[in-house]
Amino acid sequence: MRIIIAGFGTVGQGFAEVLHNKADMLPVKVVAAFDSKSYAADSNGLDPLALVERKKRTGAVGDHGLTGGTDVMDDVDYDVLVEVSPTNIEDGGAGLRHIEHALKRGKDVITVNKGPLALKFRELSRLAEKKKALLRFEGSVGGAMPIINLCRENLKGERVRSIRGIFNGTCNFILSRMDNGLPFEQALKEAQQLGYAESDPTYDIEGIDAACKVVILANSIFRRNVTFSDVSITGITSVSAEAIALAADRGMVIRLIGEVSDKTLEVSPRLVPKGHPLSISGTLNTARILTDLAGPITVSGKGAGRIETASAILSDLMAIMDRRR
Ligand code: HSE
Repeated sequence: MRIIIAGFGTVGQGFAEVLHNKADMLPVKVVAAFDSKSYAADSNGLDPLALVERKKRTGAVGDHGLTGGTDVMDDVDYDVLVEVSPTNIEDGGAGLRHIEHALKRGKDVITVNKGPLALKFRELSRLAEKKKALLRFEGSVGGAMPIINLCRENLKGERVRSIRGIFNGTCNFILSRMDNGLPFEQALKEAQQLGYAESDPTYDIEGIDAACKVVILANSIFRRNVTFSDVSITGITSVSAEAIALAADRGMVIRLIGEVSDKTLEVSPRLVPKGHPLSISGTLNTARILTDLAGPITVSGKGAGRIETASAILSDLMAIMDRRR
């Protein structure tokens, strides 16, 4: 299986490392990789680890200047596009162009890029269907925490009634640090140092990142036809130290909760009783899935991180390999 890696930041590099570490179980060749300014390509396959080393050393993944990612995609024969460029929620950015370009040519796509999915889910799914291409995106919600494929594949016979969860590790980290008396600004700085925050952290603290994830869940699991602008969003910037102290006096914590059902589409700070599955601390993500037969199912896991997100991409890649075999 020949793959192109589009985007070679944290997640792209983590995925390349995973490909190297699991080379014995993966009949996979990386035939091209590109970042925002350069590309490397070789139809015989590139060494994933050498790409990571080069990126770390020089800041660029390849020797060649990039005119556009789609030019590289036109010049190389490949089977799967792994799209991991940064999220752009204004218009989907380069990620959307790459995904559309691949699907139009019937190529399978794996992405963790939330912008294109939150803005154009229906269009991309229809395009994939029309072209008999596979579009998979497990890592776009909750990183390593299984949720999309869990609901769509493992819980196939269930009617999922609602999902409530913590879908932004940065906000959860900030709120749990504030539980211990740390000021908002300092907690945000710590979260950024951990490398979990988006490059523009307002995406996190204004609830935008969590809203994208809620849209992806609504469209993929509840078969709704919604987009980012349909979500009712309140971020955590107005959560004061006083509100957190008041909640603590009543045995509660404040957490940024995303909720989706057939009718609901919301991200907002909510009071959660201490000890409840949604009262977790730190950067973990968690989701409480309410189903008709199995009842409530709770999952949690690392919502970000290079290797953790790569694990979700790997599971999508192996699912595609099984389907195409
Ligand atoms: N900024 C996101 C978070 C990264 O904090 O959860 C994963 O989407």
